[in-house]
Amino acid sequence: MSVKLIKNIKKSLSLPKDILFREAKKIRDKYFDRKIYLRAIIEFSNICVNNCAYCGIRRGANIKRYAMDEKEIVRLAHYAEDLGYGTVVLQSGQNNLYDEKLCRIIKEIKETTKLAVTLSVGEKSEEVYKKWREAGADRYLLKQETSNAELFKKLTGRELSRRFECLRHLINLGYETGSGNIVGLPGQRIDDIVNDIVTFVNWDFDMLGIGPFIPCLDTPLEKQNPGSVELTMKVIAVTRILCADTNIPATTALRTKIGDINDIFECGANVVMGNVTPVEYRRLYRIYPGKVCFFLDPETWLGNIMELIKSCGLKPSGERGDRKRNNKKICGEKILEKIIEK
Ligand code: 5AD
Repeated sequence: MSVKLIKNIKKSLSLPKDILFREAKKIRDKYFDRKIYLRAIIEFSNICVNNCAYCGIRRGANIKRYAMDEKEIVRLAHYAEDLGYGTVVLQSGQNNLYDEKLCRIIKEIKETTKLAVTLSVGEKSEEVYKKWREAGADRYLLKQETSNAELFKKLTGRELSRRFECLRHLINLGYETGSGNIVGLPGQRIDDIVNDIVTFVNWDFDMLGIGPFIPCLDTPLEKQNPGSVELTMKVIAVTRILCADTNIPATTALRTKIGDINDIFECGANVVMGNVTPVEYRRLYRIYPGKVCFFLDPETWLGNIMELIKSCGLKPSGERGDRKRNNKKICGEKILEKIIEK
């Protein structure tokens, strides 16, 4: 990547948001034909071996732990398909309880539905990733969280290089692979965020989840300031401009903190996730507080979000929404250059 592009990314983050949003939406709408893909998420266990300073389900958190059984997870996947979703995201804390079970769960979902299956269950060995892939898993989310290795280590106790090693394995195994970051982490500088975007471009990820930091009660960061919603939305917009064809969700964290929920698609996101986890578990899966639509039943939520999407002149879509590579020859680098010069 050129030094000039890196400089332009930094400059772009201080442009007025409307300029960035306009370009980001233009690209999103051209690329995805105004579609917003709906994905269902099942938070199947909050048991976690990690102790990330920002996260409400960290190992050290004093919360009741749960682990759904195989039948229940498969049942919820069927429910998601019945509701009209084309993708199910299976997410949990990082633990070793499901290494074998997930093989059976994925196989059964793939045999009995048309759903795309996305996993979001943390850092694993290449062998485990391979087994899940062979069982039929299509996609994997593993956010880098921050590209500052020192900060990553400080906040998670783990090595960032290990995370990128996992991401490399996932890509090599043929998963559609997603990363992303948290904007406004305590100790994070603007150059770190610029480097996050640089990494997004260099790795050419298929999915990118970008959300603001939300201080969570009973974590070491509970008293820290939250991340800026405006900066988060600018990061999404610049990412959309540079990664035109990547699936970018309006993250739950962003939806939780945004002032006006009608603005969630303003910065160029093209995906939104609906929670189909039963409410009794959802209460225990509090990664951060105040999560939007916490107690809304999945059907009502889906009806509401579809209305919202339509009211923005966009089209809710229950398709699988696989990543399709840029054949419209959008050159984000040039677009960014142009709007900076203006
Ligand atoms: N604020 C914002 N995002 C958070 N996540 C975890 N804790 C927080 C927090 N306090 C995000 C991480 C993780 C995703 C599931 O939730 O990026 O990858």
